[in-house]
Amino acid sequence: MTHVQTEPSLALVKYWGKAETGLNIPATGSIAVSLSGLNTSTDIRLIQDSKQDRMILNGEVRNDPKINSFLDYFRQRYPQAKKLVFEINSSNNFPTSAGIASSSSGFAALAIGLARASGLQLDNSELSRLARCGSGSASRAVFGGFTSFPAGAEAASQLFGHEHWPDLQIIVVMVHTGSKPVGSRDAMELTRKTSDYYQAWIELSADLQISAEQAVAERDLSKLGPIMRRSYMAMFGSMFAADPPVLYWLPDSVALIHQAAEWRRKGLEIWETMDAGPQVKLICTRKELPRIEADLKTLFPHLNYFCASVGSGPIVRQEDY
Ligand code: PMV
Repeated sequence: MTHVQTEPSLALVKYWGKAETGLNIPATGSIAVSLSGLNTSTDIRLIQDSKQDRMILNGEVRNDPKINSFLDYFRQRYPQAKKLVFEINSSNNFPTSAGIASSSSGFAALAIGLARASGLQLDNSELSRLARCGSGSASRAVFGGFTSFPAGAEAASQLFGHEHWPDLQIIVVMVHTGSKPVGSRDAMELTRKTSDYYQAWIELSADLQISAEQAVAERDLSKLGPIMRRSYMAMFGSMFAADPPVLYWLPDSVALIHQAAEWRRKGLEIWETMDAGPQVKLICTRKELPRIEADLKTLFPHLNYFCASVGSGPIVRQEDY
């Protein structure tokens, strides 16, 4: 059995929109960080007694069309795997499909695990290319540390390992734990097809990617923060202008955005970002953590949160059974 553990990839500068050619080729470049402590754990084994793959997701037997088509794509792409049938048992230690990038860690684990279980020797770049076909952000989650996934690219690459910025902390505040109403795939397409602001978003994001990469290289949160903010705000601007609009935000999301501004006014270096869901991710350095946690407990006692640092990337184990 192959066991893979991966971490979600949180974009500091966002991928939102697909190029018109190719499978999940991004129209905007993204810069991301892997989140330690949040994990997808996936066990994969070959099955001989059935012609049909079996899937257990978060403890329930499921038939997930996105995973089915990924498995078919995998068998088609690698002739050595053509006749293989898989049992997949995958679970997250954080809410699934709630805007915490579970598809990034999920498809990264699947790509790595399927390759290993099939006896294929794929390098990280090929694993990234493969994971991308499941979900764009998964191309980044095959690496730890900080990653870049440029516009038009087929694969992501690692910019820095996790040891580059050990002081960086990410607090994921859970505004709502249920699944999101519209998945990122459909929401991206709706934005691309109907939003008058989509083109402006694509143009802006090219500059943001370059400056974010530099700020990460310099470990400069005061430089990175405003770039992150522009990226997620402009991304949501393009969603708000879609027809019908895509609205992931909830009242507590807005309250947390205001609270982050309030913390900055008080001199704390803390910046927020959001993805395809209502959760708010707060990014700060270690010394700010006690104060932020204390304020979250007082001001948002009804919300849970997870604290993460920069993750070191996937772990793969082969077990005989
Ligand atoms: O990889 P997908 O299809 O789940 O899209 C990810 C979209 C965002 O999380 C909003 C941004 C990103 O770059 O991760």
